[in-house]
Amino acid sequence: MPNMRLDYMTAGESHGPQLTAILRGFPAGLAITADEINADLARRQRGYGRGARMKIEKDTAVIRSGVRKGYTLGSPITLVVENRDYQVWVDQMAPEPGELDDRKVVTRPRPGHADLVGALKYNHRDARNVLERASARETAARVGVGAVCRKMLADLGVTIYSHVVNLGGITVDASGMMHSEIRDRAEQSDFRVARGEDETRMKELVDRAKTEGDTVGGVYEVVALGVPAGLGSTMNWDEKLDARIAQAIISCQAIKGVGFGMGFDVASTPGSGVQDPIGHEPDPKKASEKAARDGRGPIGGFYHLSNHAGGVEGGMSNGEPIIVRAAMKPIATLMKPLRSVDLKTKEPFEAVKERSDVCAVPAAGVVGEAIVAFVLAQAFLEKFGGDCMIELRRNYESYAEYLKAW
Ligand SMILES: Cc1cc2nc3c(=O)[nH]c(=O)nc-3n(C[C@H](O)[C@H](O)[C@H](O)COP(=O)(O)O)c2cc1C
Repeated sequence: MPNMRLDYMTAGESHGPQLTAILRGFPAGLAITADEINADLARRQRGYGRGARMKIEKDTAVIRSGVRKGYTLGSPITLVVENRDYQVWVDQMAPEPGELDDRKVVTRPRPGHADLVGALKYNHRDARNVLERASARETAARVGVGAVCRKMLADLGVTIYSHVVNLGGITVDASGMMHSEIRDRAEQSDFRVARGEDETRMKELVDRAKTEGDTVGGVYEVVALGVPAGLGSTMNWDEKLDARIAQAIISCQAIKGVGFGMGFDVASTPGSGVQDPIGHEPDPKKASEKAARDGRGPIGGFYHLSNHAGGVEGGMSNGEPIIVRAAMKPIATLMKPLRSVDLKTKEPFEAVKERSDVCAVPAAGVVGEAIVAFVLAQAFLEKFGGDCMIELRRNYESYAEYLKAW
């Protein structure tokens, strides 16, 4: 029985010739160009604290299948992102048989990276065979997939943005700001933050970490506006929308925690301060103006007076903006390396130093947007179906009408 869900897989090593993504189950008739995908790839490359690699790469996607004359065909969509750095790694990374340069073999695994456990699991004496795939370079392919999904969602009235809310303990309070304001400011900011006054302190923190050979983590928030009530399902564990978003976000390199809305604060707040009271606006015109202002998707005349739940109740989107936060640990590669053990000699050594980011939280936020876009696109197609965009849109509009009539 084939898997009929919208699905994708990525392939490619960090210093191999290219990254590839294949997205299957995508409807026909969506207008999409490589330029639109490239805009998101460029956003992923930005941010203060990135390493030299991002200066070498100029990520651009080539569409190799599934799109003809600017429109999706309904066939698998193949995206390819070339690794420019491959040119200097050819002798180490080429698929043809040959000897490895002993000086370049990685035998001192980095704590916090996949090096040690991957070498053991796959019986690789050169940890490069593991780190090349574990590397977050793979997220460029995911951002490409996300860009296609985001375009489909935009057609259905859903928009997604991200911003950084904590960088190494420096928190950004964006409460009270409009979604459009947060989004626009984050787009202008090197740290993707909504309040510029925090940037100076963040820059100092990242600079200090760099000088000390250390790294910085943080928390980003992804917000999806215009999502209708009823995506996902409460009926089975693997259909719950929050569970699916959480799994997908955690699958991103270095993400160690996920929370919706109030997140972990729900545990220390009384129920009356956590649950979101429900209201109803009987006038359809007023209801739709209010929904547009609040970023709410179709839910009839109903609304919530707050959004502590982050837009998901009982495993289903509840019409409010989906708000998900992700905690990223500091980068594992340290220029002042931690203790490790040589895989060959078993002697204690310092871990290997690879060229590396000091901080990649802003970039991770862009990856988070792509991940959420994919899961929402999948949930949309599950609920509304359709082999082409016209069919999907028609099914969706009829659902929105049904909700209005409630
Ligand atoms: C956008 C982004 C960039 C990253 N850049 C680096 C990097 O330059 N060096 C590094 O050691 N880890 C980097 N990471 C994290 C590692 O890929 C990750 O820690 C590693 O694969 C081990 O997986 P885990 O942390 O999820 O357990 C980055 C992660 C993201 C999301």
